[in-house]
Amino acid sequence: KTPVWEARADLLVLGSGVAGLTAALRAQELGLRVLVVTKAAVEDGNTRWAQGGVAVVLDDQHDEGDSVARHVEDTLIAGAGLCEPDAVAAILHGGPKAVSWLREVGARFDPAAPGLLARTREGGHSAFRVIHAGGDATGAEVERTLVAEATGRRLPVLERHIALDALLTPLGDVAGVTVLDPNGVPGVLRAPAVLLATGGLGQLYQATSNPEIATGDGLALALRAGAQAADLEFVQFHPTVLYTPGARGRCPLVTEAVRGEGAVLLDGAGESVMRGVHPLLDLAPRDVVSAAITRRMVEAPSGVDDHVFLDATAIAEFASRFPTVHAACRAIGVDPARDPIPVAPAAHFACGGVLAGTDGRTGVRGLYAAGEVARTGLHGANRLASNSLLEGLVAGTAAADAVAADLATGSLADPRQASAPRPRPVPVAERDALQRVMSRYAAIGRDSDGLAVLGSVLDLSIEDKLVRSHREAEDAALTLVAQALVAAAGRRTESRGCHVRADFPERDDATWQRSQLIRLSPSGQ
Ligand code: SIN
Repeated sequence: KTPVWEARADLLVLGSGVAGLTAALRAQELGLRVLVVTKAAVEDGNTRWAQGGVAVVLDDQHDEGDSVARHVEDTLIAGAGLCEPDAVAAILHGGPKAVSWLREVGARFDPAAPGLLARTREGGHSAFRVIHAGGDATGAEVERTLVAEATGRRLPVLERHIALDALLTPLGDVAGVTVLDPNGVPGVLRAPAVLLATGGLGQLYQATSNPEIATGDGLALALRAGAQAADLEFVQFHPTVLYTPGARGRCPLVTEAVRGEGAVLLDGAGESVMRGVHPLLDLAPRDVVSAAITRRMVEAPSGVDDHVFLDATAIAEFASRFPTVHAACRAIGVDPARDPIPVAPAAHFACGGVLAGTDGRTGVRGLYAAGEVARTGLHGANRLASNSLLEGLVAGTAAADAVAADLATGSLADPRQASAPRPRPVPVAERDALQRVMSRYAAIGRDSDGLAVLGSVLDLSIEDKLVRSHREAEDAALTLVAQALVAAAGRRTESRGCHVRADFPERDDATWQRSQLIRLSPSGQ
């Protein structure tokens, strides 16, 4: 349809989670006219579901023996050889300042004693450095703080509008986006800078910790705009979401901090899942734990088990320390103080994404990316737990600074020179079928035969459609992202981090200690 309305700004921020709102608030402080565009309500992103916390080494918190250098080291180890050390250092060293700012604008983290924050541990961390809020509701507190600040400062937010495609100048610079309003009426937003902060892609899978909105929209938009993506094959599966038979859509998380405080994973026979697997046992990095659980389920005497158990009965005051997990367990009749919690791995986090610097700049002028949608090199092949809220804060701030600098030097395009791509049919797979085959063939333990079947089933279930609704826009994004992910997973003939191949179980540093870059050909394939 032809756009029927138009608006302008200096910076469009797509997404209203931690990265998007942090960037928008910072850009507003720097005097830019900012417009936040979000496809749901402002607080509906993935951020508010984060539980465990924010991994950060704070100067004033007496972290005996801990240091940012150790946090960097743990991140590099978890990342299984694919992190970019400079990006890791830049983001983690930026952490203390970013967290101080968040506390200044009102975030309340749980105290251990007057002037001292409580800190927990999660998989792969060599120290207690994960600060948390509301026990296990850290993301909700981060989002509450940012939304309150945005409301207080009258930050303009366009809710329930989904971005479709970038406006491009004849030189290929991005200078705005096309959008659909809540009724599917198309519009155009023009701005010399567009920041993608659209989060992840967990909805590629049937079972995920991510809410309905995590459909890879920003990544798809970036690919269509000519940007590069990297590390797409590394989808992190959280080891422990609450298991309920036939679970679909968002599954409640059982935060890794529960294991940080002593819970252990047991199989159906009551045997430890992690004994003999890794020296850190239940607190091994997340990829190792998820793979171990998956193996244990496949090898179960009953054939294939679909869950294991998390025994948290030794944790004192479970209900007050983990109120969110406790409520979710009670809703299915489980009392964590007495009963083992049924858990299973589920899709959780995209370690890869749009290739971007830690300042959000991508290879396409005018297009920036921060947060889960971006691949900065912080996560490598497997993100260290609780590094993502921190990344959103640090990279969101840096991206706003970069946009302001680029505007000041006049290096961005004039949005009047940009035009919307001509509407044309794009491949759209049926969502249910896509999620089923992704879960069956592109989860933990993929192999070349399964990935080939997946490719064929996807091809068969795809129809070319003109996108006219939010749902179709999301389905088109999921389809494009699935195709890119499956291609990357098929090519990487080794196992590393979250990419676990049944047919290539070993890590192959000689060939694969590198990221795969993906860019669409000009024909859109
Ligand atoms: C958790 O609380 O286990 C999730 C934290 C994260 O994904 O970083």
